[in-house]
This record gives sequence, structure tokens and C-alpha cells, in this order.
Amino acid sequence: MLTIKDRTFKTAVIQTPLAGCTDLAFRLIARDHGMELAFTEMISSEALVRAHKKTYTLLKRAREDSPTGCQIVGPDPDSMGRSAAILEPLGFDILDINCGCPVRKITGQEAGAALLKDPKRAGKIFRSVIRSVKAVPVTVKMRTGYTDPSGKEAVRLARIAEDCGLSAVTVHGRTKAQGYSGKADWRIIESVKKVVTIPVIGNGDVFSAADALRMRSETGCDGIAIGRGSLGNPWIFGQIRAAFGHNKRSVPSFREVKQTALRHMDLTALWDGEKTAHLKSRHIACWYFKGCPGSSRLRERINRSRSFEDIVSIVKAYEPHRPV
Ligand SMILES: Cc1cc2nc3c(=O)[nH]c(=O)nc-3n(C[C@H](O)[C@H](O)[C@H](O)COP(=O)(O)O)c2cc1C
Repeated sequence: MLTIKDRTFKTAVIQTPLAGCTDLAFRLIARDHGMELAFTEMISSEALVRAHKKTYTLLKRAREDSPTGCQIVGPDPDSMGRSAAILEPLGFDILDINCGCPVRKITGQEAGAALLKDPKRAGKIFRSVIRSVKAVPVTVKMRTGYTDPSGKEAVRLARIAEDCGLSAVTVHGRTKAQGYSGKADWRIIESVKKVVTIPVIGNGDVFSAADALRMRSETGCDGIAIGRGSLGNPWIFGQIRAAFGHNKRSVPSFREVKQTALRHMDLTALWDGEKTAHLKSRHIACWYFKGCPGSSRLRERINRSRSFEDIVSIVKAYEPHRPV
């Protein structure tokens, strides 16, 4: 169980935002496999307040896509506050502030992970967002530091977040400078847990139920956020819930993996149209069949495909024990 302000979730395992991946189709598939609390892809506050059309497509929801949090990123306290005021009436269950994105386009504007070294601006953003919402819980997701791996910056930012009235903090155990290299340092999650009373959600390198159990016991975190471990592997949510004693463990057969990949691609076509689904399905198919015999040959064929229909037939024909 995980309680964030006045919202209680049955499971403490949540899906972390992944730009370009955690779209509506992804979330619907993950929900079928035990994921409860999802997040949209990161939304730029500047684009949102300027009513940028493509940004609004990232907010697409379906009735069964709930509970869902929305993550915003931006450098300007006023635009971040105005974005929160736009998003709250859309019915999101949580608004999350991005203080972890390492991409130069974002940090170059003093947003994302750059806020780890600019606590004054971060505090202004937190207060502006809190002032702009009526009831929705506001949370923050951060890295351990900008370049300093000691965790001092994360501890400082988590304290500011709590003082400003935020309701939870997610810590990805890497610095901005690390990008996605090396190993996540879970000790910093533990350090943050020791200094705040709001829930702390641990994140980084959880690829199995065993990793999730280890993260919880090593850090004492209140929740666990899964990112890359769920790409092509929605079963991870059910497996972790099972490890925490909520339900039976499920290990998918190859047939189930294939059916789920095809359904993920179909839902993408349904919500995004076949042209976008063709592009997205190249990644989706690779996530699901990564490591299967013949998967590199499969990838080559998929990359040469000319249409969504083409990818669907390539995936349908794929059997790991037969040449593709
Ligand atoms: C493709 C990709 C996109 C990401 N997009 C976001 C994002 O929009 N917002 C965010 O806070 N983190 C984002 N992240 C970071 C993840 O949410 C997560 O913190 C990181 O991948 C570590 O967790 P993991 O080891 O479970 O993947 C992204 C990571 C990847 C690989």
C-alpha cells in the first residue's frame, strides 16, 4: 500500500515516466498486468501554456487509464504553476515536478536535473505549483545530484520539497552526469528517506521482483518506481506484487509475450493512428523480443518494414526456434 497525501494505492509499485514510451497504449497494457499508478510522459510547461498541439496529444487518456499522474518539466515558476492549474481539472491523480531530466535541451534552460544545483529556483517552482492547485497531490522526481554523487543535493532538495508542501519524492539513484551509465546508488534513496517524513519512492535498476525486494529492504523506501524494466515486460508489475504477497506470480509463455506485443501495437494504432504506430512499433517489438533467439534478424526485418501492417505480419510470423 502507498499513501500520497489523501490518495491510497493498493500497491507500492508504480510506473515511472519514460518520454516516448509510457503513452496510453503502454499504460493500458501495463494495467492489464498489475500496474496501478501510472505516469504520462514528461510534459513541457512552456509548451502546455502555449497550447502546443503535440503536447496535448501526450495527455490522451481513456476511462480505464486511472489512476494516472502527470509529470511537468520547466524552468519558470509562473509557467509551471499555470500548467498545474491547466492539468488539475483534467483529473490527474498526482502532478509530478521533474528535477531529474539530464537532456541538454532541458538542463540548458535551467530545468530538470539543473534544479538540483539551483535550490532557490526549485523552491520557487514548488511553491508556485502548490499555490496553483486546489487538492491534487504534488510530488517531485529527482536524481541524486548534478555531478556530486554524495547525495547532498538530493537530500537538500527533498527537504525543500517537504517544506514547500509536496506530498512525495522519487529518487533515481544516479547523478545527472551519470546519465544511465554505471549502477544506481540506492544508498542515496536511504539518505533521503532518513530526512523527510513524506513518502520516498526508490527508482533505478529494478529489473526483477528480487531487485524490488532488495531495494525496499536496503533503503526502507515507501514505494518502488519501475522504468526500463517494464519495457516489453509488463509482467514485472504482477511479479513484484506477488513478491510483496499481493497475488500469484506470473511468468509469460512465448505465446503470451507475442500476443501482448501485438496487442500493444494494436492499441498504439488505435490511439495514435497507423503512421505513428508504425514508427512506435519498431521499438515496441524490440522491447518484447529482446534476447529471444533470432531477435537481431527480427529487428533487421522490422527496421526494413514499410507499414504498420508489415510489422504486424513480421511479428505474427516470428517463432524463436524458426529462422525469420
Ligand atoms: C527512454 C527514457 C525516457 C525517460 N523519460 C523520463 C521522463 O519523461 N521523466 C522522468 O522523470 N524520467 C524519465 N526517465 C528516467 C526514468 O523515469 C527512470 O528514472 C530511469 O530510467 C531509472 O529507472 P529504471 O532503472 O527503472 O529505468 C526516462 C528514462 C528513459 C530510459
